[in-house]
Amino acid sequence: DASPLIDGFGRTITYLRISVTDRCDLRCRYCMSEAMTFLPRSQVLTLEEIAQLSDAFIARGVRKIRLTGGEPLIRRGVPELARMIGRHIGHGLDELTLTTNGTQLAKQAGGLVAAGVRRVNVSLDTRDPDKFRHVTRWGDVAVVLDGIAAAKAAGLKVKINMVALNGFNDQEIEPMLRWCGAEGHHLTLIETMPLGSIDEDRVDRYLPLDRVRADLAERYTLRDIAETSGGPARYTIVEELGAKLGLITPLTHNFCSTCNRVRVTASGSLFMCLGHEDKVDLRGALRTGGRAALDELLDRAMRLKPLRHAFEIADREAAPATSRHMSVTGG
Ligand code: GTP
Ligand code: 5AD
Ligand code: SF4
Repeated sequence: DASPLIDGFGRTITYLRISVTDRCDLRCRYCMSEAMTFLPRSQVLTLEEIAQLSDAFIARGVRKIRLTGGEPLIRRGVPELARMIGRHIGHGLDELTLTTNGTQLAKQAGGLVAAGVRRVNVSLDTRDPDKFRHVTRWGDVAVVLDGIAAAKAAGLKVKINMVALNGFNDQEIEPMLRWCGAEGHHLTLIETMPLGSIDEDRVDRYLPLDRVRADLAERYTLRDIAETSGGPARYTIVEELGAKLGLITPLTHNFCSTCNRVRVTASGSLFMCLGHEDKVDLRGALRTGGRAALDELLDRAMRLKPLRHAFEIADREAAPATSRHMSVTGG
């Protein structure tokens, strides 16, 4: 069965996000709580299983695969995994890429390039050392900046992901844009999403990107472009800074109607939406069922994909949309 993956609303799934580990060497405050419990290793798919899964999805029409986490590069063997998946590039797969916090990039950028990776998205909410240490709880921004420089030197295109946080980095958006413009990186701003319990109040930190955009438009010429990266961002060129800016706006401008994505967790659960519980367990089929069983589960999963998330952030009393943190689903 090599039919494409089409959900109940007619959306074709061409983008697979695979979380290779739910663990992370940082603890960003908007993402995780300080005390997190992680999956026991016995439940985590092996790299071979992840590669098999990728084969099955590519055979069903997936053209873009992103490795995520947690922090994907803290798992041993990820460059080898990238090489296994990378064999499909140009033969069904258009792009293999990665979202990382950058702490391991200085060591691993070369291996990723050798595997066929051409660009990476790196999370960087602030370039200020003290603020970076605060938001990540203990991270060293110099390590990440070195990682980004190494990625660029190795020939990777870099996109910086910055979660817009009111009263934390709102004043840094413009300097970050300027820096990205000068370095040749793209910048994507992300609205904070209510996923999992954290130790602080997301309402206070929520910064609607329509406001950020309006502020920027008063000072710069913004030229919207139709081009997409196959993800949820809408792009605009900030002419005076020579910077490409992406906006990911789950709250102020819903993009679910064009959703082309599903995600697999490190333990092999296929989640059909970041903001819902609907899932299918692929691990059993991977371990004992073979490709036909897997294909049948993929068909069943397509019928479960919800129309859209129901993120609500303005209501202080509301529970998170899911108890799962983004680090489990892989963003
Ligand atoms: P590109 O391939 O560069 O477009 O990347 P991407 O935006 O698809 O991936 P990335 O891992 O950089 O994700 C950036 C942000 O977008 C993260 O916060 C993700 O959680 C969020 N994101 C990606 N896909 C979805 C989605 O389907 N729904 C929602 N609500 N957020 C998403
Ligand atoms: N809301 C929005 N973005 C988040 N990220 C992690 N948790 C959240 C959240 N609750 C971001 C990370 C990373 C990307 C994959 O998702 O900073 O850049
Ligand atoms: Fe780790 Fe990424 Fe979550 Fe930060 S956002 S704690 S870097 S998984």
